[in-house]
Amino acid sequence: MSGAGARDTTLRAMREDWDQRARENAEYYIHTGSKQWDEREFFRSGEINVANEIMTDMASICGGNRSPLDLDALEIGCGVGRMTKMMARIFRHVTAVDVSAEMIQRAKTNLSGLDNVNVVLGDGATLSALKDASYDFAFSFIVFQHIPTVEVVASYCREVYRVLRPGALFKFQLQGVQWNRDRPPDTWHGISFSEDDSRRLCQETGFIFERSDGVGSNFYWLWFRKPD
Ligand SMILES: C[S@@+](CC[C@H](N)C(=O)[O-])C[C@H]1O[C@@H](n2cnc3c(N)ncnc32)[C@H](O)[C@@H]1O
Repeated sequence: MSGAGARDTTLRAMREDWDQRARENAEYYIHTGSKQWDEREFFRSGEINVANEIMTDMASICGGNRSPLDLDALEIGCGVGRMTKMMARIFRHVTAVDVSAEMIQRAKTNLSGLDNVNVVLGDGATLSALKDASYDFAFSFIVFQHIPTVEVVASYCREVYRVLRPGALFKFQLQGVQWNRDRPPDTWHGISFSEDDSRRLCQETGFIFERSDGVGSNFYWLWFRKPD
């Protein structure tokens, strides 16, 4: 199969598999902590993730003396809006992208009362609907760990670089456990990254490697900065 053919197959598989998961039990596949989430608890789990993974970086996200209420944020892989809902209370505007039409439909319902959120169905690898240099912060959690190829993750990094304003931060989480030695990656068990892999990804996409945390674990976090 050609490179383009293989990529199309991967994008189709991601959309179909996540659509199927959304129809079966969206909340469970988003956060496997419960098979029958209470709605309030489900969104509360998103608030906790925002507190732990975004609020702790706020000084670095804002830089200087800006307020988050002056910033436009981008979330890749928003699911049904579990974290988006809280992000919308913090930032001026949030654009939330997902590959699954079924997830996007549920996110639109969950976020319908919020006039500072834009929910976008993406193609699974690019941000083609979004304008250059129009975001102050980009974020992704428990999404890239499910992506089966380095090429798709690299495509997102190039695209995030394009849509971020100079000096902006991209914080995202990857799969750091090296389980691909035993099994081929799929749309649930995505591709693993070592520290060397992510440094290469950073260099190839033009970002500055600010820091990493959790190398070798399920929650391998990267902080990539777009140069000023
Ligand atoms: C485990 S859920 C996490 C959702 C959300 N980040 C949260 O924490 O609530 C993973 C989400 O990533 C989406 N996703 C998977 N592959 C994607 C891709 N290539 N591009 C965009 N979204 C993707 C899925 O459709 C799903 O909504």
